[in-house]
Amino acid sequence: MCGIVGYTGQGQAVPFLLAGLNRLEYRGYDSAGVAVMDGGQLSFVKTAGRIAELEEVLAGRGLSGRVGVGHTRWATHGRPNQQNAHPHLGCHGDVAVAHNGIIENHAALRRELEARGHRFRSETDSEVVVHLLEEYSDRDLRQALQAVTARLRGTYALAVVRTQDPNAVGAARQDSPLLIGLGEGENMLASDIPALISHTRRVVVVEDGEVVVLSAEAAHIYNQEGEVERTPLEVGWNLEEAERGGLPHFMIKEIREQPRALRQTMAGRLSEDLSQLQLEIDPGPLPRKLWFVACGTSYHASLVARRLAEDVLAIPAEAELASEFRYRHLALGGEDTVVAVSQSGETLDTLSAMRQAKAMGARVIGVTNVIGSSISREAELNVPTLAGPEIAVASSKAYTTQILALTFLVLAYAKASGRLTAAQEQAWAKELWALPEKAELVLQKEQEIEAVAARLSQAQDVFYVGRGTDYAVAMEGQLKLKEISYLHAEALAAGELKHGTLALIEAGVPVVALLTQGDLIDKTLSNLAEIKARGGWVYAITSHDLLDRQELDHVFVLPAGRDELAPVLAALPLQLLAYYVALLRQTDIDKPRNLAKSVTVE
Ligand code: AGP
Repeated sequence: MCGIVGYTGQGQAVPFLLAGLNRLEYRGYDSAGVAVMDGGQLSFVKTAGRIAELEEVLAGRGLSGRVGVGHTRWATHGRPNQQNAHPHLGCHGDVAVAHNGIIENHAALRRELEARGHRFRSETDSEVVVHLLEEYSDRDLRQALQAVTARLRGTYALAVVRTQDPNAVGAARQDSPLLIGLGEGENMLASDIPALISHTRRVVVVEDGEVVVLSAEAAHIYNQEGEVERTPLEVGWNLEEAERGGLPHFMIKEIREQPRALRQTMAGRLSEDLSQLQLEIDPGPLPRKLWFVACGTSYHASLVARRLAEDVLAIPAEAELASEFRYRHLALGGEDTVVAVSQSGETLDTLSAMRQAKAMGARVIGVTNVIGSSISREAELNVPTLAGPEIAVASSKAYTTQILALTFLVLAYAKASGRLTAAQEQAWAKELWALPEKAELVLQKEQEIEAVAARLSQAQDVFYVGRGTDYAVAMEGQLKLKEISYLHAEALAAGELKHGTLALIEAGVPVVALLTQGDLIDKTLSNLAEIKARGGWVYAITSHDLLDRQELDHVFVLPAGRDELAPVLAALPLQLLAYYVALLRQTDIDKPRNLAKSVTVE
């Protein structure tokens, strides 16, 4: 997820572009750049690192001009460096493009354009757009944008300047957010409201499939049928609210973003006819043993992946806390593979464990949400999650996209080792494709979960139980509740209850039960009967028809589907439950006490 801005008006472009990029930095911040029309020529500055680096260079350059575009990057293709920073310029430096999204057919387009003599400078998917625009320099800006976007497959918000339209900024949108800000004698573009509200509160949403031509005096929006008239919105938010999309916390924003985060992580990894997985991951030969090392929520995602690896690959697999892994006397070697799972890619426990494994000769693979992070750089192979920046300390969209990326990794091993028939591959592709839409259906039931939160918010202890993969998901549920509501919670294997913890169950004690693994549901229901017999209160989350509901106090029903993918859906009510309990307990949900987003100490 990146941030893009554009300006055309009577004022200088650079001050608006920089201020806007700073307000969009929460969308991505590993490199940044601006391109400005100065006397009919395009000038640009691009830097790796945060926007402050760009500001420093610009302070020395004194770029002037009244038309320009800017970009702050969250790398998806290509390392975070100056060469890959946006805006991208074409072969002759007379067109500049800033892009937010993923161009899925970038490889084919790049080959076609290179064959036509275009010279690429970056490793990014985005650069194909600027070279395509050069192909349509004979058309006016609107027609050129429409011709270019007709060639693109994937998601994009584009901001464009070109010397042949020295007073205009062009734009286009498909799936990635894009807004127009209407000013007095100036008009602006941005990915999100925070970049606009210092200049204007009159905002127009650009819809999918539309292109835009802005001048200082007018904003024109076009779809395939012609010009579109759209009433501006009057934005009432203050700046801080705007960065959260008007929501009270980043956490609820990120919980609700998960369908899009799943789609972004899946982009390009399924064939269009859903018959095949296009994994572009070469994990190498099947290892003697597959290790997953991680911390916290990433460890819980690893627990899910471990069972999947055992089931699909029929090899030994283990998920170990990175802080424990490091102090075990393990004889790892070249036949072992260690997968380091980390949202930030900087967690020192996980990074150290990965380095240790590498030093022992094991193959190391990273699954990270931050390209350019230490783990993604030091791993031999990085399988990115494309959840976009996760700001809330409590992880939500990183967890579900980690499960998705790890599923792709396991399936890549299965496909490469002949353990996946064509029919099985097609079945997986269809189920994966349907996942984001099912997540949307679950999130539509948010109020049902809010109603249950009050039941938990006064409890002393909350227990989470499940068997197999459900136990792994229960671990994530208890962590979410603990870390944002400060309520004590613990997860246990449902079969373990009778071996001790049942002593703590008495009238009214709340138990959250996961029931998504069809072959284990009956056993877990028996355990729940033991809880009910002692007066416990049971909140069940299931993706199956519970014929024998054991008078469960509340049942949250998930969309049916493949049990192996149920953790992605079951995580959503668990995240929302924790969020609404924390809301009732009035804790600092985005920044819980004592915690940090990335733990770079041991
Ligand atoms: C998740 O809600 C927590 N904030 C924490 O457990 C986190 O998952 C853990 O610190 C690992 O972080 P990483 O994924 O960035 O490595």
